[in-house]
Amino acid sequence: MIMRSGSNWQPPDGEVRRDERLENHTTFAIGGPADWFVIAVSEADVRATLEFAAAEGQPLFILGGGSNVLFPDEGFRGVILTLSGALAEIEFEGSKVRAGAGALLPRVGLLAGKRGLSGLEFASGIPGQVGGTVFMNAGTRDSSVGPLVERVRVSDRTGRILELTNEECGFRYRNSNLKEYVVLRAEMRLSEVPAQEVRAKSQAYRRERIESQPVGTRNAGCVFKNPQGQSAGQLVDRLGLKGLRIGDAMVSPVHANFIINLGSATAEDVRSVMKEIQRRVAAETGIRLEPEVYLVGEERSEGTD
Ligand code: EPU
Repeated sequence: MIMRSGSNWQPPDGEVRRDERLENHTTFAIGGPADWFVIAVSEADVRATLEFAAAEGQPLFILGGGSNVLFPDEGFRGVILTLSGALAEIEFEGSKVRAGAGALLPRVGLLAGKRGLSGLEFASGIPGQVGGTVFMNAGTRDSSVGPLVERVRVSDRTGRILELTNEECGFRYRNSNLKEYVVLRAEMRLSEVPAQEVRAKSQAYRRERIESQPVGTRNAGCVFKNPQGQSAGQLVDRLGLKGLRIGDAMVSPVHANFIINLGSATAEDVRSVMKEIQRRVAAETGIRLEPEVYLVGEERSEGTD
């Protein structure tokens, strides 16, 4: 191996791992090794990582909970940035919560609920981190995280820190303007209600999820965005594609917008199932389903806008 100038690089406070397998960091349990896997625990780490990637000309990917991403079987040639420690802290002030991008959103919701703060019940059971869920405006059919957000602290790609207002974030269906930044922290405004109401609402969301989604399997949530006014799952189901299997990747028999890894699915298996679904849906309905799952290495076909 050629020794590069940065081959002994370390962030100031956090940790770096070489050739870390991404299957251990994704809910699909799929993905080969990343050249550099950085666990940043401070804003200084984030800045140093951005500078390192830029200086070495290495691609950079910011990984949250790994619940909406498909990495290639070959892994990632570049730097994966994850946020932990002080970048995952959760702080309450009255009815506001400031949550580090590395905190799990359902954990923020749980702690909020204990204080009688409502708004994040829908997140109960969504295995996403604050950064990723804010960045993609994650949510359910009738709620999403965007409307709760008052301010987002971000770093631009040069390491400059900015505080963005809700408007500047540009939240829309499963999307925002945050793509060019590293989300560091989100400040959300919740509403005060009796704690038992929050608990009951969270339980109802959890129950609905258990009844209608393949909870407990290796999946990455809904694979396609819903086309305007329709449910992708319903479209795929109507075509009889539940149970469609290529290798170890299968369309969930419970919810047709989920693909599950039955054990040793490769990224290629999942992509093949996705392509087959897109082909059948386009042929039968004329609708082009857009991936919701972030396909690393296929950014151009991801259709973010
Ligand atoms: N349906 C079927 N067959 C299926 C799946 C759904 O007939 O295989 C029907 C359902 O019976 C229902 C309708 O389609 O009448 C809508 O289904 P569902 O309530 O599951 O909602 P969805 O539109 O498929 C959206 C979000 C989910 C979120 C649920 C629940 C998207 C792409 N999906 O799904 O989010 O959990 O609402 O609120 O926006 C995700 O983002 O990863 C995700 C799973």
